[in-house]
Amino acid sequence: MAHTEELPPGPDFTQGVPLASIPDTGVLAGRVGDESVLLARLDDGLHAVGGNCTHYGGPLGEGFVAGDEVRCPWHHACFSLRTGRARKAPAFAPLSTWRVEVVGDQAFVREKLEAAPKPTHRPSIPRERIVIVGGGAAGFAAAERLRDLGHAGALTMLSADSAGPYDRPNLSKDYLAGTAPEEWIPLTSDKHYARRKIDLRLETEVAAIDANAREVQLADGERIGYDALLIATGAEPRTLPLPGFDRADVFTLRSLADARSIITACRQARSVALIGAGFIGMEAAGALRERGLDVHVVAPDAVPLERALGAELGGFIQSLHAAGGVQFHLREKPAQFDGNALVLESGKRIDADVLIVGTGVVPRTQLAEQAGMRVDNGILVDATLQTSLPDHFAAGDVARFPLGADHVRVEHWVHAERMGQAAAANLLGAGQPFDDVPFFWTHHRGVEVRYCGYAGQWDSVRIDGSLEARDFTARYFRGDTLVAAASVGRDLENLEIEASLRRASA
Ligand SMILES: Cc1cc2nc3c(=O)[nH]c(=O)nc-3n(C[C@H](O)[C@H](O)[C@H](O)COP(=O)(O)OP(=O)(O)OC[C@H]3O[C@@H](n4cnc5c(N)ncnc54)[C@H](O)[C@@H]3O)c2cc1C
Ligand code: FES
Repeated sequence: MAHTEELPPGPDFTQGVPLASIPDTGVLAGRVGDESVLLARLDDGLHAVGGNCTHYGGPLGEGFVAGDEVRCPWHHACFSLRTGRARKAPAFAPLSTWRVEVVGDQAFVREKLEAAPKPTHRPSIPRERIVIVGGGAAGFAAAERLRDLGHAGALTMLSADSAGPYDRPNLSKDYLAGTAPEEWIPLTSDKHYARRKIDLRLETEVAAIDANAREVQLADGERIGYDALLIATGAEPRTLPLPGFDRADVFTLRSLADARSIITACRQARSVALIGAGFIGMEAAGALRERGLDVHVVAPDAVPLERALGAELGGFIQSLHAAGGVQFHLREKPAQFDGNALVLESGKRIDADVLIVGTGVVPRTQLAEQAGMRVDNGILVDATLQTSLPDHFAAGDVARFPLGADHVRVEHWVHAERMGQAAAANLLGAGQPFDDVPFFWTHHRGVEVRYCGYAGQWDSVRIDGSLEARDFTARYFRGDTLVAAASVGRDLENLEIEASLRRASA
C-alpha cells in the first residue's frame, strides 16, 4: 500500500460516497486503494473506470466529459466511461473497470471487473488480405483497429524501419535528453503482434505497388498480394545540398536509428548546431541542452515557430530555450560545415562538432505516384481516406485529406493514428468520413503546448491569460471564425475548444 501522501486525490470509493456528490454530467474522481478511479453517472446507471490514461498516465478526472466519453487533458485520447475501452488514439489499452453498488443514498465501488469481452463486429466488406505499407503511427493504429473491428483475414504490416512501431514524438524529447529509458519507446511488445496475428515485417522496403494485380513488390523482388491496401509511409526529412552536409556527423531526426546515432555522436561532442527552428529543431535543442552540450540554432526566420504559432508564441518558446542557454542565430542561413565549425552565409562561424538538419519533411508519395494514384503534395484522399484508386487508402503524414474547403496534410502524431483508425474502418467498408479535429502537443523546457484545430493561414490571434505565468490560450481566427487554439496550463480549455471545433465542423 502506498503512503497516504501518494494516494490519488478524492474520496475512497470503497467507503461509499453520497449519490448526490456524483455529477449528472462529468465525473467524480476518487480512488480504490491506491488506484485513481472515476465514477460516472450514465443513462444506464453508475460506472467506475480507471482515472489514469493508458497513454502516459494523464489525470482523466481533469479531462473533458461528453456523453459516455472522457477525453484526456494531456494528448486528448478518448475512452468510454461505460466499458473503459480506448476509442481514439493515442491510447490503445482500455481502462480498468469496477462494479458499482448503490446502497441507500450511497455508491460503493466494489471489486475490479474482468475486461469486458470485445464486441463482435462483422465487417461490411470482409477482406481476405490487407497489407499496410508503413510501421509508424498510422500503420500501427490501423492494424490495431482492423483486428478490433473483426478483420479475420491476413494482416501484413511492411516497414522499412529496423524497429517495430515506436513512440516517435519521444525521440526529440525525453529520449534524446537521456531521461526516457529504452523500454518506453516501443508502442507494444513483439508478442502482441503475434497474439493479434499481425505479420509485422521489419527492414522490408516496398519498392512498387501494382494496383491492377493487387500486389506490392518488395525491394528484394518478393511480391505480396492484397485485396485492400493502406499506404502509411509518412514523410522524410529534407536535406540541404551544401558543402560538408553529406558528412557522417550531419544528421536528420526521423527514426529511432537517427536518434541513436545523434546520441552516440553527442557523447563525444561539446557543441551542436541545429538548422531550423521548427518543432523538432526546438525540441531537440532543449533536449541536447539537458545533455550539457552547447547548442546553437540557426534559422532564416525572425522568430522560431512563427509560421505555425505566430510571433508572440514563437517568441515565448524562444525565450524558454534562450533561458536554458540555447544560442540563436536567426535571420541566418548555413553555408558549409567541416566537422568543427558551421559557417553561415553571413560569414559567421559557429563551433559545432555535430550538425542536425531540421528543415521540415516531404511526404513519401513515390509509391502512390508510380502506382497511378493522384498525388499533389501528398496522396490525395477523399473524406473516407480512399485514394483515387478503389480499395487503396492512405493515412498519416503522407495523406492530403479534405478539411473544410481545403485539402490539407498535417504532420501530427495523434492525427496520424486517428487517420489510421478511421482508414481501418473504411478498409472494411464502413464508408465513414474522417472528421477528427487535428491535435498536437509539443514540449519545451517543461512547458507543454497543446494545439487543436487547423489554422494554415490566419488573420488574427487573441491571447487570453499570461505568457509569463505560463497560463494562456491563443485563439487563431480566420475572419471571425475560430480555427485553432494553442494552450499552456489550460488543458481543459483546449479540450473544450476542440469540442466546439468538432461541433462547428459537424
Ligand atoms: C522527432 C519527432 C518528434 C515529433 N514530435 C511530435 C509531437 O510532439 N507531436 C506531434 O503531434 N507530432 C510529432 N511528430 C510528428 C509525428 O511523429 C508524425 O506526424 C507521425 O509519426 C506520422 O505518422 P505516419 O504513420 O504518417 O508516419 P511515420 O510515423 O513516419 O511512419 C512511416 C512508416 O513508413 C515506413 N516506410 C516508409 N516508406 C516505406 C516503404 N517504401 N516500404 C516500407 N515501409 C516504408 C517507415 O519506415 C515508417 O515505419 C514528431 C516527429 C518526429 C520525427
Ligand atoms: S496521457 Fe492521456 S493521451 Fe497522453
